[in-house]
Amino acid sequence: MSTIPYNKKNVIVLPQTNQLRGLYSIIRDQSTKRGDFVFYSDRIIRLLVEEGLNQLPVEETTIKCYGDHEYQGAKFLGKICGVSIVRAGESMEQGLRDCCRSVRIGKILIQRDEETAMPKLYYEKLPEDISERYVFLLDPMLATGGSAMMAVEVLLSRGVRMDRILFLNILAAPEGIEAFHASYPDVKIITGGVDEKLDENKYIVPGLGDFGDRYYCV
Ligand code: PRP
Ligand code: URA
Ligand code: MG
Repeated sequence: MSTIPYNKKNVIVLPQTNQLRGLYSIIRDQSTKRGDFVFYSDRIIRLLVEEGLNQLPVEETTIKCYGDHEYQGAKFLGKICGVSIVRAGESMEQGLRDCCRSVRIGKILIQRDEETAMPKLYYEKLPEDISERYVFLLDPMLATGGSAMMAVEVLLSRGVRMDRILFLNILAAPEGIEAFHASYPDVKIITGGVDEKLDENKYIVPGLGDFGDRYYCV
């Protein structure tokens, strides 16, 4: 299968260029070793971060160039921060740092129960002024959507505006996108691909296995 096209407001699927399909072919391959898995995942993460930045509002500005020539440019409006859903989401922090110098990063530790796939919240540590920021929520996998929805609840409880959350995600299942989007229609989901379905263990099919294990352990 190839990725499922999505035509929903606030669901942004990266253009399925040959380059992107090539990157996914490497990280999906079960024989890919950890070094390559990390390297090529990082390249996809960078593309997701760049697309997230594309979505931020700008104001028009006029620049004086050399020779006093004028350039009609754009200036970013607003402040951002990152929030990763530990563990796998931490893999996306460096990609954000590479684009946004000294960006603040918060953490929410949510783990899916291995038997039931239900998420459990263990810990959160977020920037004090998070309610004034655009938040790049980072988690590579959107399966049932339970973990991401729990993380959004934490952000909303801290005063973050729903329309200022951008959820960056490497791979999603249709079930997860539907559930997430129905609950939080104003959150922008930026994903690199939408797969076919979930299996009986709530893993994405065809998917890429356990992202956290492949990035950090195996
Ligand atoms: C994985 C993944 C997401 C979550 C997605 O994390 O990183 O956080 O599952 O599943 P969901 O959409 O059904 O909630 P997991 O809890 O397995 O731990 P990890 O991040 O430590 O790998
Ligand atoms: N977490 C993963 O790492 N992969 C899946 O397919 C689902 C949840
Ligand atoms: Mg996780």
